[in-house]
Amino acid sequence: MTASLHRLVYYSRNHISGDAAAFAAHVDDILARSRTNNARDGITGALLFNAGCFAQVLEGPLATIEAAFERIQQDERHGEVALLALDPIAARSFPNWAMGFVGASDRDADRFQTVGASSGFDPSRLSGDEIHTLLRDLTIEEEVAA
Ligand SMILES: Cc1cc2nc3c(=O)[nH]c(=O)nc-3n(C[C@H](O)[C@H](O)[C@H](O)COP(=O)(O)O)c2cc1C
Repeated sequence: MTASLHRLVYYSRNHISGDAAAFAAHVDDILARSRTNNARDGITGALLFNAGCFAQVLEGPLATIEAAFERIQQDERHGEVALLALDPIAARSFPNWAMGFVGASDRDADRFQTVGASSGFDPSRLSGDEIHTLLRDLTIEEEVAA
């Protein structure tokens, strides 16, 4: 199991329309499904939403993260899904998160502004490493705040 541990990073564009309540309901559904499936599949990670884009890190056995990524790519709630990284890793960065969600709080948004400025606020111009580091730092801040 450990030998096949991999990390996958992608970003995508939001296709959910409607008001804030409709968006929140969709995100709740995505997170509920993710947490159930990922706990079953040995996947951990985090999902960022900001500036109309999602960015996500999935880590776990290669076969299960590839299967999850296949399902995620078929999901019409987002599009232009772009794979940024798929690499073997020695250890997980999100051991406590079946799927963390960051980006919604003012503090996260401020932080994203700081990192995002270097890319012109376009996650497609961030590397897999930059997104991984950003999500790891934001989830660590969540853990400290909790
Ligand atoms: C931005 C985004 C992130 C998602 N992340 C995950 C995930 O980490 N794990 C997962 O199983 N499904 C994830 N999904 C949901 C899948 O696209 C799909 O709806 C789900 O896996 C279907 O599972 P079910 O057949 O058990 O309902 C995500 C969807 C979106 C739009």
